[in-house]
Amino acid sequence: METKNTATLHGRQFRLLIPTPQVQEAIRQVAREVNADYRNGTFRRPLVLVTLSGALVFGGELFRQLEGDFELGFVRAFSYGSGMESAEDVRIELSGAVDVAGRDVLVVEDVVDSGRTAESLRTLLCKAQARRVWIATLLFKPEAYRGALLIDYVGLRIEDRFVVGYGLDYDQAGRNLNAIYVLDQ
Ligand code: IMP
Ligand code: MG
Repeated sequence: METKNTATLHGRQFRLLIPTPQVQEAIRQVAREVNADYRNGTFRRPLVLVTLSGALVFGGELFRQLEGDFELGFVRAFSYGSGMESAEDVRIELSGAVDVAGRDVLVVEDVVDSGRTAESLRTLLCKAQARRVWIATLLFKPEAYRGALLIDYVGLRIEDRFVVGYGLDYDQAGRNLNAIYVLDQ
C-alpha cells in the first residue's frame, strides 16, 4: 500500500509524521518488552484489554506478536467527544463478558495525552479487583501528560500535537490511515 504525504479529513489538512515502517518497529519494540517481562514472570494470567476504538489497530498488531498465554478483551473509552480537545469527563464501558477480578491486566491505548483516560481505566480496573494493571500505548505526549503514574510501555513519544491514523481519529475519520499524520497548522 502506498503511503500518501498528506490527508484531508473533514476539510482539515494533515501531513505525514511517522511513516509505516517506523510505527511497525515501535510496535515490535513494545512486543519485545512485554514478551521479555512475560518470560521473567512479571504477569500472572495476563489479560490484554484493548481500548476501543482507537487502539484496535495497534492492539491487533501487538497482540499477534505476544508470546505466551495472553487473553484478549475489550473496553470502550469515550473522552474526546467529537473535536480535538481532551474532554474533562471520561466514560468507560467494560464489556460484561470480561471478568478482570484477580487478573493481571495490560491495558492497550492508542495515545496517552493528558492521562485522564489511562487514570480512569486504572481506577475502574482496580475497583473491579484486577490484581495489577499495566498500560501500553502506541503514542505518548510527554508535554501534555498530567498523570502521576508511569506509563509502562510506550511505542513512540511525540510532541503535543493532534495526530490521526493507525486507529486514531479526527471525528471518526482517518482511523484507517496506515501511518501517523499530524494536523497542519
Ligand atoms: P487523555 O485522556 O487526555 O490521555 O486522552 C486520551 C484519548 O484522547 C485517547 O485515547 C484518544 O482517543 C484521544 N486523543 C488524545 N490525543 C489525540 C490525538 O492526537 N488524536 C486523536 N485522538 C486523541
Ligand atoms: Mg478518539
